Amino acid sequence: MQLAYSGEKAAALAYAGHWRSLPQGTARDTIIRIEKEEVEHRQTVGTMLKKLGEKPAFWREVLMGTIGRLAYIGCFFTGWFLPMYFAGKLEHENVREYDVAAVHAHALGMDELLPALRHMSKTEAEHELFFSEQVAGHWALKPARQVFGWDPLPVIEQYRQ
Ligand SMILES: [Fe+2]
Ligand SMILES: [Fe+2]
Repeated sequence: MQLAYSGEKAAALAYAGHWRSLPQGTARDTIIRIEKEEVEHRQTVGTMLKKLGEKPAFWREVLMGTIGRLAYIGCFFTGWFLPMYFAGKLEHENVREYDVAAVHAHALGMDELLPALRHMSKTEAEHELFFSEQVAGHWALKPARQVFGWDPLPVIEQYRQ
Protein backbone atom coordinates (compact mmCIF):
# COMPACT_ATOMS: atom_id res chain seq x y z
CA MET A 1 0.00 0.00 0.00
CA GLN A 2 2.94 2.31 0.69
CA LEU A 3 4.20 1.56 -2.82
CA ALA A 4 0.82 2.37 -4.31
CA TYR A 5 0.55 5.56 -2.28
CA SER A 6 3.87 6.91 -3.55
CA GLY A 7 3.29 5.51 -7.02
CA GLU A 8 0.15 7.60 -7.36
CA LYS A 9 2.20 10.67 -6.51
CA ALA A 10 4.62 9.93 -9.36
CA ALA A 11 1.72 9.24 -11.71
CA ALA A 12 -0.13 12.45 -10.85
CA LEU A 13 3.03 14.54 -11.34
CA ALA A 14 3.87 12.81 -14.62
CA TYR A 15 0.35 13.41 -15.97
CA ALA A 16 0.45 17.04 -14.85
CA GLY A 17 3.42 17.44 -17.19
CA HIS A 18 1.98 15.19 -19.85
CA TRP A 19 -1.22 17.15 -20.50
CA ARG A 20 0.64 20.45 -20.37
CA SER A 21 2.91 19.18 -23.14
CA LEU A 22 -0.03 18.40 -25.43
CA PRO A 23 -2.01 20.71 -27.72
CA GLN A 24 -5.63 21.58 -26.89
CA GLY A 25 -7.92 18.65 -27.59
CA THR A 26 -9.57 15.53 -26.28
CA ALA A 27 -6.37 13.69 -25.35
CA ARG A 28 -5.26 16.67 -23.26
CA ASP A 29 -8.65 16.87 -21.55
CA THR A 30 -8.66 13.14 -20.84
CA ILE A 31 -5.21 13.28 -19.23
CA ILE A 32 -6.33 16.24 -17.08
CA ARG A 33 -9.13 13.97 -15.84
CA ILE A 34 -6.74 11.04 -15.34
CA GLU A 35 -4.43 13.26 -13.28
CA LYS A 36 -7.39 14.09 -10.99
CA GLU A 37 -8.25 10.41 -10.66
CA GLU A 38 -4.66 9.59 -9.61
CA VAL A 39 -4.86 12.29 -6.95
CA GLU A 40 -8.10 10.73 -5.70
CA HIS A 41 -6.43 7.30 -5.64
CA ARG A 42 -3.62 8.71 -3.54
CA GLN A 43 -6.17 10.10 -1.07
CA THR A 44 -8.02 6.79 -0.94
CA VAL A 45 -4.82 4.79 -0.42
CA GLY A 46 -3.69 7.35 2.19
CA THR A 47 -6.89 6.75 4.15
CA MET A 48 -6.35 2.99 3.93
CA LEU A 49 -2.78 3.36 5.21
CA LYS A 50 -4.06 5.32 8.19
CA LYS A 51 -6.65 2.64 8.94
CA LEU A 52 -3.86 0.06 8.83
CA GLY A 53 -1.89 2.18 11.28
CA GLU A 54 0.84 2.76 8.69
CA LYS A 55 2.59 5.87 7.44
CA PRO A 56 3.85 6.63 3.94
CA ALA A 57 7.40 5.34 3.40
CA PHE A 58 9.58 8.45 3.54
CA TRP A 59 12.23 7.46 0.96
CA ARG A 60 9.62 6.03 -1.34
CA GLU A 61 7.89 9.41 -1.27
CA VAL A 62 11.14 11.19 -2.08
CA LEU A 63 12.03 8.75 -4.85
CA MET A 64 8.60 8.77 -6.47
CA GLY A 65 8.36 12.54 -6.15
CA THR A 66 11.64 12.82 -8.03
CA ILE A 67 10.60 10.33 -10.71
CA GLY A 68 7.30 12.15 -11.14
CA ARG A 69 9.04 15.51 -11.54
CA LEU A 70 11.52 14.08 -14.05
CA ALA A 71 8.66 12.56 -16.02
CA TYR A 72 6.83 15.90 -15.86
CA ILE A 73 9.80 17.63 -17.50
CA GLY A 74 10.55 14.69 -19.79
CA CYS A 75 7.13 14.93 -21.42
CA PHE A 76 8.21 18.19 -23.04
CA PHE A 77 11.34 16.74 -24.64
CA THR A 78 10.71 13.16 -25.63
CA GLY A 79 8.07 13.72 -28.29
CA TRP A 80 4.52 12.45 -28.41
CA PHE A 81 4.95 8.69 -28.36
CA LEU A 82 7.08 7.82 -25.32
CA PRO A 83 4.95 9.53 -22.63
CA MET A 84 1.84 7.84 -24.06
CA TYR A 85 3.54 4.45 -24.19
CA PHE A 86 5.02 4.60 -20.70
CA ALA A 87 1.75 5.87 -19.27
CA GLY A 88 0.06 2.77 -20.69
CA LYS A 89 2.75 0.50 -19.29
CA LEU A 90 2.46 2.16 -15.88
CA GLU A 91 -1.32 1.82 -15.88
CA HIS A 92 -0.96 -1.84 -16.75
CA GLU A 93 1.14 -2.33 -13.62
CA ASN A 94 -1.34 -0.30 -11.54
CA VAL A 95 -4.23 -2.57 -12.50
CA ARG A 96 -2.21 -5.55 -11.28
CA GLU A 97 -1.11 -3.73 -8.14
CA TYR A 98 -4.69 -3.07 -7.01
CA ASP A 99 -5.82 -6.58 -7.94
CA VAL A 100 -3.00 -8.05 -5.86
CA ALA A 101 -3.83 -5.66 -3.00
CA ALA A 102 -7.45 -6.86 -3.11
CA VAL A 103 -6.31 -10.50 -2.85
CA HIS A 104 -4.11 -9.64 0.16
CA ALA A 105 -6.85 -7.58 1.81
CA HIS A 106 -9.27 -10.47 1.46
CA ALA A 107 -6.70 -12.96 2.81
CA LEU A 108 -6.18 -10.69 5.83
CA GLY A 109 -9.91 -10.51 6.47
CA MET A 110 -10.11 -6.82 5.52
CA ASP A 111 -12.97 -7.17 3.10
CA GLU A 112 -14.12 -3.63 3.85
CA LEU A 113 -11.26 -2.44 1.61
CA LEU A 114 -12.34 -4.51 -1.38
CA PRO A 115 -14.89 -2.16 -3.01
CA ALA A 116 -12.41 0.74 -3.09
CA LEU A 117 -9.56 -1.47 -4.34
CA ARG A 118 -11.72 -2.96 -7.08
CA HIS A 119 -12.92 0.49 -8.08
CA MET A 120 -9.33 1.74 -8.38
CA SER A 121 -8.31 -1.31 -10.39
CA LYS A 122 -11.20 -0.61 -12.76
CA THR A 123 -10.22 3.04 -13.16
CA GLU A 124 -6.62 2.04 -13.89
CA ALA A 125 -7.90 -0.39 -16.52
CA GLU A 126 -9.80 2.49 -18.17
CA HIS A 127 -6.61 4.54 -18.14
CA GLU A 128 -4.70 1.65 -19.69
CA LEU A 129 -7.30 1.33 -22.43
CA PHE A 130 -7.09 5.06 -23.21
CA PHE A 131 -3.31 4.98 -23.63
CA SER A 132 -3.52 1.70 -25.53
CA GLU A 133 -5.82 3.31 -28.09
CA GLN A 134 -3.53 6.30 -28.33
CA VAL A 135 -0.40 4.32 -29.26
CA ALA A 136 -2.04 1.53 -31.29
CA GLY A 137 -1.02 1.90 -34.92
CA HIS A 138 1.92 4.19 -34.17
CA TRP A 139 5.08 3.21 -36.08
CA ALA A 140 7.18 3.27 -32.89
CA LEU A 141 4.97 0.73 -31.14
CA LYS A 142 6.68 -2.32 -32.60
CA PRO A 143 10.20 -1.44 -31.43
CA ALA A 144 8.89 -0.15 -28.07
CA ARG A 145 7.03 -3.41 -27.49
CA GLN A 146 10.19 -5.40 -28.19
CA VAL A 147 12.33 -3.31 -25.84
CA PHE A 148 9.91 -2.49 -23.01
CA GLY A 149 7.49 -5.39 -23.14
CA TRP A 150 4.09 -3.77 -22.69
CA ASP A 151 1.70 -4.53 -25.53
CA PRO A 152 -1.48 -2.44 -25.83
CA LEU A 153 -3.12 -4.58 -28.52
CA PRO A 154 -4.41 -7.40 -26.24
CA VAL A 155 -5.87 -4.70 -23.99
CA ILE A 156 -7.92 -3.30 -26.87
CA GLU A 157 -8.86 -6.82 -28.00
CA GLN A 158 -10.03 -7.73 -24.51
CA TYR A 159 -12.14 -4.58 -24.31
CA ARG A 160 -13.86 -5.34 -27.61
CA GLN A 161 -14.95 -8.79 -26.43
FE1 LIG B 1 -4.08 5.52 -9.90
FE1 LIG C 1 -4.10 5.44 -13.61
